[in-house]
Amino acid sequence: MSTSKVASVFDLDGRVALVTGAGSGIGRETALLLASAGAIVVVADLNQDGVQKTVEQIEDASGQAIAAQVDIGDETSIVAMFETVHARLGRIDVLVNNAGIYPKTNFVDTSAEKWDLVMRINLRGTFLCMREAIKQMQAAGTGGSIINISSVASLQPVIFDNGDYGASKAGVNNLTKIAAFEFAADRIRVNAVLPGGVMTEGAVASARDHQARGPIMQPGRIPLGRIGVAADIANTVLFFASPASDYVTGQLLVVDGGFQVS
Ligand SMILES: NC(=O)c1ccc[n+]([C@@H]2O[C@H](COP(=O)([O-])OP(=O)(O)OC[C@H]3O[C@@H](n4cnc5c(N)ncnc54)[C@H](O)[C@@H]3O)[C@@H](O)[C@H]2O)c1
Repeated sequence: MSTSKVASVFDLDGRVALVTGAGSGIGRETALLLASAGAIVVVADLNQDGVQKTVEQIEDASGQAIAAQVDIGDETSIVAMFETVHARLGRIDVLVNNAGIYPKTNFVDTSAEKWDLVMRINLRGTFLCMREAIKQMQAAGTGGSIINISSVASLQPVIFDNGDYGASKAGVNNLTKIAAFEFAADRIRVNAVLPGGVMTEGAVASARDHQARGPIMQPGRIPLGRIGVAADIANTVLFFASPASDYVTGQLLVVDGGFQVS
């Protein structure tokens, strides 16, 4: 196969892609890769320093990016962001729901407030962004691709003190399949990526703060022999965002170096 044919399969030239949580980790790497595939990337995060850094990196690589401040825990903030994207760019082709939190709490010590916070960011925030993007994609009539960043923890326990998080991501998986089914007729594809352990700023901080009973996911227990890096997840997102996956919807793709089958 020629190089140009491969490039066209992954081409996002002129497409608008919005990535939440793009001020750090997996989201930043994904924003950079989608921009290098030709997308105009809306770099959305609560952390404006992180947003600026990602935008600069994209522009330094001759890509196109727009900064957006959003609190995924707040409906008004989400709706305003999508309205701004519509006013400025007139379309949205790709949505990557990546913003998420994973503070660890012992099951029996988990308060209703902490449970609600995790659900609010990870599950409700994902739903609200999907809702707003789907409305615009339906109105445009040009289809689209939504990629939800879930976790291997949505399928099985991988670390202690992770009950609320695993449940929130299990909800994301279900929402992925439901939306894939409901909006296929609009040519809106919805898929999820389920990372295993990935070395990011957030994961390193979480591991540091959660020494008590330690992570289960160690390199020695991963068949491919290493912890994941953000590019492993970004590459998979590019597949779901691009024409390479035009006939794929409703899928939950585990990207964990084989941990789940070990
Ligand atoms: N790193 C891992 O090992 C791992 C494994 C499985 C799944 N995931 C998932 O991948 C996604 C990204 O994780 P990461 O490791 O890159 O994390 P990270 O902490 O490095 O980055 C998360 C980003 O989300 C942003 N964010 C948090 N709350 C927000 C809010 N209310 N509004 C807007 N932005 C907000 C943060 O500012 C940050 O920039 C998360 O959904 C996480 O659950 C990560």
